[in-house]
Amino acid sequence: MTFREKNGISTKLNGNSAASHQRSLKSKKPGWEYAESPESKDHIIINSKYDLFINGKAVKTGKYFSTVNPANEEKLSEIAYASAGDVDKAVNAAEKAYRNSWSRISPKERAKYIFRIARIMQEKARELAVIESMDGGKPIKESKSVDIPLAIAFFFYYAGWADKLKFAFPGRQFSSIGVVGQIIPWNFPLLMAAWKIAPALACGNTVVIKSAETTPLTLYKLAEIIQEAGVPDGVVNIISGAGDTGAAIVNNPKVKKIAFTGSTEVGKLIMRSIAGTDKKVTLELGGKAANIIFEDAPIDQAVEGIVNGIYFNQGHVCCAGSRLLVQESIKNTVIKKLKYRLNSLRLGDPLDKNTDIGAINSRQQLDKITELVESGIEEGCTIYQPECKLPSKGYWFKPTFFTNVAQSNRIAGEEIFGPVLSVLTFRTPKEAIEKADNTQYGLSAGIWSDKGSKIFKMVNQVKAGVIWANTYNKFNPASPFGGYKESGFGREGGIQGLKEYLKF
Ligand code: NAI
Ligand code: MG
Repeated sequence: MTFREKNGISTKLNGNSAASHQRSLKSKKPGWEYAESPESKDHIIINSKYDLFINGKAVKTGKYFSTVNPANEEKLSEIAYASAGDVDKAVNAAEKAYRNSWSRISPKERAKYIFRIARIMQEKARELAVIESMDGGKPIKESKSVDIPLAIAFFFYYAGWADKLKFAFPGRQFSSIGVVGQIIPWNFPLLMAAWKIAPALACGNTVVIKSAETTPLTLYKLAEIIQEAGVPDGVVNIISGAGDTGAAIVNNPKVKKIAFTGSTEVGKLIMRSIAGTDKKVTLELGGKAANIIFEDAPIDQAVEGIVNGIYFNQGHVCCAGSRLLVQESIKNTVIKKLKYRLNSLRLGDPLDKNTDIGAINSRQQLDKITELVESGIEEGCTIYQPECKLPSKGYWFKPTFFTNVAQSNRIAGEEIFGPVLSVLTFRTPKEAIEKADNTQYGLSAGIWSDKGSKIFKMVNQVKAGVIWANTYNKFNPASPFGGYKESGFGREGGIQGLKEYLKF
C-alpha cells in the first residue's frame, strides 16, 4: 500500500472529504454566488490536425500526438511530432531564409512585418485567448487580460526597435546571429513565443521554435498569423514535439543561439550539450520566489499580492511568489485574511469569466504537485485548503497553503509549480534577506512595506533578477526579466533582451 493510499491523502487533497470540509469551516465563504458566465467558443476554429509549419508551408510528418483540454480531458487536436529529420528541414529553411531574404531586407522593412504580426494578433485576440485557455487550462480572464495583450505588446515593442538598434547600442559594432532555436514551456505558450520570436526577428535573425507537449495550439494559430502578415517563407518555423525534438534543435550545428524556458533540469542538459560549441544561449529556468511582507505594509493590498503571486495561472509560474515570508508580528492577521480570500476564489471551468483558478495543465503536473504536497504533510507542516468542489473530469488542485514550514522542508525548497504556498516568518530585515536568499534559485521576489528606504535596502540585497515592490507579477516589454543562480541567465525584454540576439 502506498503512502497515498494508506493516508487517503489524494482524496483529502483533491476530493471534498470531511476533513477538508472541517478545515475550511474556520473561514466563512463570502455570502454571494456568481451566475455562470462562459466565454463563447462559436468563433473558434481548431483544426482536427496540425502539421509542422516549415518554410511557410504545412509539412506532414510520420508521428502525431493528441493535445487535450485539461479541464475536461477531451481531445482538441492531433499534433505533429517533429523528428530529428524534421528539425533539420526547419533549420535548413531558416538558414536559407536568413541568407536569401531576412538578412537582406532593411531593418525598417523588418519592423513592418513585426508590426503587422502584432496588429493581426490584436484582431484575433479573443480567439487566441479562448484557445490558450482550452489547451492549457488557464482562466479566460487571465488569457484575455494578461497572456494575449502582453504577447502583442512584445511584438509592438520589438518592432519599434528593429530600425533603431544603433541607438540601443551607441558606438558599438554588431550584427545578427543567424538561425536561432527556441524552446518554450506550457505555462504561457503564446506569451513565451512572443518573448522569443519578437526580439529575434527585430535583430534580423530567423527562427525555429518548438512549443511544449501539452500546449501547441496557439503557436499554430501564430503560424497562420505569420503567413497572413506575409513574412517571407522560412523566417519563422514553428514545430511541435517532445524533449527529443528540443534536443535536436539544441544539437543542430546550424543553430547559432538557443533560447530556452523550462525546468532547471533541462537547462542543465542543454548546457552540457552545447559545451565546446560557439552557440549563444539564454536560459530562463525555475524559481522559488520569496514574497516578503513587512509589518508596515498595506496588509489588504499585500494579501492580494500574495494571492496574485501564487494562485495566478494555478501557480504554473516560474516567478510565482511561492514562499511567503511574513513578519512575525502580523502573521496571524495575514493568515486570517488569506484564509478568507482563499474561500472567495472560484475554481472551475477556465472558460467561465468568473473563474479565478483553472485546471492544472496536465496529469503529470498534477501528480508532481500532489507528491510535493504529500511530502509537506508527511514532514509535519500544517495544510490549509478552502472548501470548494472540484469538477469530476479534468485535472484540478485546490488553492493551498502550508504553515509550520521549516526552511528544510521540501515544499520550502523545491519548485512545486502549482497553487501551493509555503508560509514562513521572520523578525528582522536581515533575517528576511537570509531566508529569501536561502535557495538555489534567484528569479524573482516581492517586497511589501510602507517605507521606500526599507524597500531600496531590501532590493539591493536580495539576490533575484526581478523584484516587485508593493505589487507582484507585473510585466512590461520594456523591463528585462531573467534570473540568477539556478534560475538561469540572460535577460528577455527591454534593451537587454535585444543584446541576446546580436553578435558584438
Ligand atoms: P521541461 O523543462 O521538460 O519542458 C520545457 C520544454 O523543454 C518543453 O518544450 C520540452 O519539450 C522541452 N524539452 C524537454 N527535454 C528537452 C531536452 N532534453 N532538450 C531540449 N528541450 C527539451 O519541463 P516540464 O517537464 O514540462 O515540467 C517539469 C517541471 O519543470 C515543472 O513541474 C516545473 O517545476 C518546471 N518548469 C518550469 C518552467 C519555467 O518557466 N521556469 C516551465 C515549465 C516547467
Ligand atoms: Mg493541451
